[in-house]
Amino acid sequence: MINVGFIGAGNMGYAIMKGIAGSKMGKDIRNPYIGALGIMFYFCRCKEMNRRTKKVLGMKTKFLGVFLMMWAMIGLEAGAQHTANAKKVLVAYFSWSGNTRNLAHQVQELTGGDLFEIETVKAYPEKYRSCTEYAKKEKEADARPALKSKVKDMDAYDVVYVGFPNWWGTAPMAIWSFLEGYDLTGKTVIPFCTHGGGGEQKCFSDFARHAGKADLKKGFICHGGTVGDARPKVERWLEEIGMK
Ligand SMILES: Cc1cc2nc3c(=O)[nH]c(=O)nc-3n(C[C@H](O)[C@H](O)[C@H](O)COP(=O)(O)O)c2cc1C
Repeated sequence: MINVGFIGAGNMGYAIMKGIAGSKMGKDIRNPYIGALGIMFYFCRCKEMNRRTKKVLGMKTKFLGVFLMMWAMIGLEAGAQHTANAKKVLVAYFSWSGNTRNLAHQVQELTGGDLFEIETVKAYPEKYRSCTEYAKKEKEADARPALKSKVKDMDAYDVVYVGFPNWWGTAPMAIWSFLEGYDLTGKTVIPFCTHGGGGEQKCFSDFARHAGKADLKKGFICHGGTVGDARPKVERWLEEIGMK
C-alpha cells in the first residue's frame, strides 16, 4: 500500500513537473525548476520514508533519491545553458496619449524584455489639435527632437522592439531621433504601431529606411482604440515572426 502511494505520488510529481516544463518553461523538460522540484521531492520523500517505511523500501528509496538528484543536476546544467543562449530584449516606445504604451506593456509581458520610454526634452502640446499642428511642422522640417534619455547599454540587447503611433502617416520624428542615436547593426529590430484609422501608411516603410543595418522583422499594427483587446493578435504576431 505504501509502495503504491509512493509510486502514485511520484507519477503525480512527474506529471506536474512535465506540465510546468511543457507549458511555461519551454519544450526542454530539463530545467532548473524541475531540478528544484526534484530536490524538493527527494527531501520530502526521504523524510516520509524515514518516519514510516525506512526498512520496507530500503534500496528503492536510495535508487529513487539518486535518480531525482541526477535529474536535478541535469536540469540545472540545462538551465544554465538556456540562460546563456537567451536573447536580451528591449521594448522601447513613444506614446502621446497612452495607446502605444498599453501595447508596449503587452509586448514586454510576452517577451520578457526591458521597457524604455522614448520621451522628448520638449513635451508635445497636451491638446490634440495643437499636437497635430506641432507634429506636422516637425515632420515638414524633418526635425530630430532631442530625447530626454538614452538606453543605458544598448550594446547588450539582441532584439529591440520599437513602438510608436502613426503621426501624419509616418512615425513621430522622435522615433528617428531614437533610431539614429544608436548603432543597430546586427540587432533584430521590430516595429509596432497604433493608428487612428489610417492604418500603416508609410509607418513601416519609413521605419525601415531609418533602421540602419538592423535585421528588420515584420511589424505589428492595430487601431489605437483596440489595443485593450490586442493581446491574442500580439501573441500570434510574435509566433509568426519566430519571437515566441
Ligand atoms: C499628432 C498626431 C498625428 C496623428 N496622425 C495620424 C495619422 O496620420 N493617421 C492615423 O491613422 N492616426 C493618426 N493619429 C492618431 C494616432 O495614431 C492614434 O490615436 C494612436 O493610437 C495614438 O497613440 P498614442 O496613444 O500612443 O499616442 C495622430 C495622432 C496625433 C496626436
